[in-house]
Amino acid sequence: MDHFAIKNGVMHAEDVPLPRIAEAVGTPVYVYSRATLERHARVFREALGDVPDKLIAFAVKANPNLSVLKVLQKQGYGADCVSVGEMRRALAAGIAPEKIVFSGVGKTAAELAAGLEAGIGQFNIESEEEGLELAEIAAEMGLTAQCALRINPDVDAGTHDKISTGKADNKFGVPIDQAGQIFGKLAAKPSVNLRGVAVHIGSQLAEIAPLENAFEKLGALVKSLRGAGHTITHVDLGGGLGVPYRKGEVLPAPAEYGAMVARVTKDWGVSLIFEPGRVIAGNAGVLLTRVVRVKRGLNHPFVIVDAAMNDLARPALYGAYHHFEAVEPSGADMTANIVGPICETGDTFAMGRECDALQSGDLAVFRTAGAYGATMASSYNSRGFVAEVLVDGDAFAVVADRIDAGSIMDAERVPDWLA
Ligand code: LLP
Repeated sequence: MDHFAIKNGVMHAEDVPLPRIAEAVGTPVYVYSRATLERHARVFREALGDVPDKLIAFAVKANPNLSVLKVLQKQGYGADCVSVGEMRRALAAGIAPEKIVFSGVGKTAAELAAGLEAGIGQFNIESEEEGLELAEIAAEMGLTAQCALRINPDVDAGTHDKISTGKADNKFGVPIDQAGQIFGKLAAKPSVNLRGVAVHIGSQLAEIAPLENAFEKLGALVKSLRGAGHTITHVDLGGGLGVPYRKGEVLPAPAEYGAMVARVTKDWGVSLIFEPGRVIAGNAGVLLTRVVRVKRGLNHPFVIVDAAMNDLARPALYGAYHHFEAVEPSGADMTANIVGPICETGDTFAMGRECDALQSGDLAVFRTAGAYGATMASSYNSRGFVAEVLVDGDAFAVVADRIDAGSIMDAERVPDWLA
């Protein structure tokens, strides 16, 4: 459930008509709904009501906007970060360091040190090599690193290949059959408190079964690590729950996920960590765009919008579907190719899409753009970065300025010897 709906013929974000935002801020612009973020945060937390001891750490990569993080901080959420940049954002949003988890397969020495310095709650170590380096850095700094070892459970998440992370040949974590040995080696380091294990098998999962399979494997590992004399107090179950992108699409509900988690983990006796991203932010945002013009095409007209693949990369990168609809629907439909202005055919949002009839100057939205939208933008074709707006009831605020192509050019230099 989200708070984007047509009222009196005009799409609103909560109580704000989207044309008002387009007028004030221009297009394209990402629009987020605070009530939707809060609702999703609450539903996910309530779904885990039967899990007594837990930390829900929002996957910052899904939407790192400071105001979005602030909304979630107020909901008691922590943060799952994968770079020092994300960590700084989480801290700036007021998220306590103990509620920050640092994941990522390529943390640099400087990032490990920054995490230690900030006193973050847990490093999810992705390899023996990284663990040894972290132990060394922590020892030099006279600190103890709180850690979990990320396990690659060799489970097929059944999602898009580019966002699958738990198969044996994926780059993430340590192979489950070597986990005991690597855990033993790292746990012996006095500057490391290796207190648990972590797993994340992929994103936009449409089934609960692969998650359950991975968690069962993790449960068996916890048992065998304890059998070897290790103390396991924390298990991080990652993120990955999918969201509906198409009208009428049905995905496993958070409640179903929560019930499975409670059942599988009931005897583990650990504190659980969750890293949801998309399920919190995905349907809490739209990309608001204006039709530049409609051009005749061979089979269908091209609806050329002012948003492009640099603003919303998912269709070009993964062939992802984003529902597209008019802000002021006339009731008529059309079949169209929805494209951006960028000079490559990859800048296509949809081919042969049934959608609301649109003409030059009309406003439209790409739905489910609150996760992995603005954050994956680039300035390709010197298009600058889109503004972001947060709506709260009948109020809205610009929470990220539009960065125009000129400001990006201002950061470039022509050296004297070339002038
Ligand atoms: N934890 C870890 C370690 C992750 O790598 C990810 C996502 C998450 C949590 C959050 O997963 P979520 O709950 O959002 O599924 N750009 C892609 C998605 C990449 C996801 C990467 N990792 C897309 O647009 O679909």
